[in-house]
Amino acid sequence: MTLSEVIRLLTKKKVILFLRTRAIVDRTVILAQSKLIHLAPRVRINNYTVIKPHNAFVRIGKGTIIGESCVIYGHGGITIGDNCLIAPNVSIMAIEHEYSESGKLYFNQPLKFKGIKIGNNVWIGASATILDGVEIGDNSIVGAGSVVRKSVPANTLVAGVPAKEIKKLEP
Ligand SMILES: CC(C)(COP(=O)(O)OP(=O)(O)OC[C@H]1O[C@@H](n2cnc3c(N)ncnc32)[C@H](O)[C@@H]1OP(=O)(O)O)[C@@H](O)C(=O)NCCC(=O)NCCS
Repeated sequence: MTLSEVIRLLTKKKVILFLRTRAIVDRTVILAQSKLIHLAPRVRINNYTVIKPHNAFVRIGKGTIIGESCVIYGHGGITIGDNCLIAPNVSIMAIEHEYSESGKLYFNQPLKFKGIKIGNNVWIGASATILDGVEIGDNSIVGAGSVVRKSVPANTLVAGVPAKEIKKLEP
């Protein structure tokens, strides 16, 4: 990307962010509690993505690309490794609500969270959802539209609802 392209893409606030992190963040991206979001160099975040650490943290490793309209809720802490490809409309939700107290509104019941860890060179297909407590190993792939409830070993392709192993990948 040329310098003029970088400047065209960024507002003044984003220019400051770019100078601080060397990450490219599109104009309409929302980074709530930005001090709790760590962007490594060459991270790229596309338009309409929302990242909310919710008093925990979201760390995104170098070279990782996050597509349009992703939603990342960090309550239990989220680490995304280097050189990952997160396709558009992916949700990464490190948060669950208790639902055991009948008659009480779900949003008034306690929250619970463990956090989510995504390794290096992971490709998450469009509209997939990654739920709390999941770890995804290096070089793995999550198919489009999958719901990932259980951890995924390294070098594994999973897909479906719930996501299941489809095949092993060459490391
Ligand atoms: C996961 C993916 C890479 C697999 O591609 P592939 O290796 O060519 O897989 P195949 O098409 O040979 O499918 C293998 C099996 O997995 C199933 N499968 C593949 N992708 C699936 C998905 N997203 N959800 C559910 N099942 C899926 C197939 O139905 C097939 O099942 P079968 O053997 O019972 O018929 C691809 O399907 C996918 O989801 N790509 C994401 C694309 C995307 O999000 N692009 C955005 C740009 S970053």
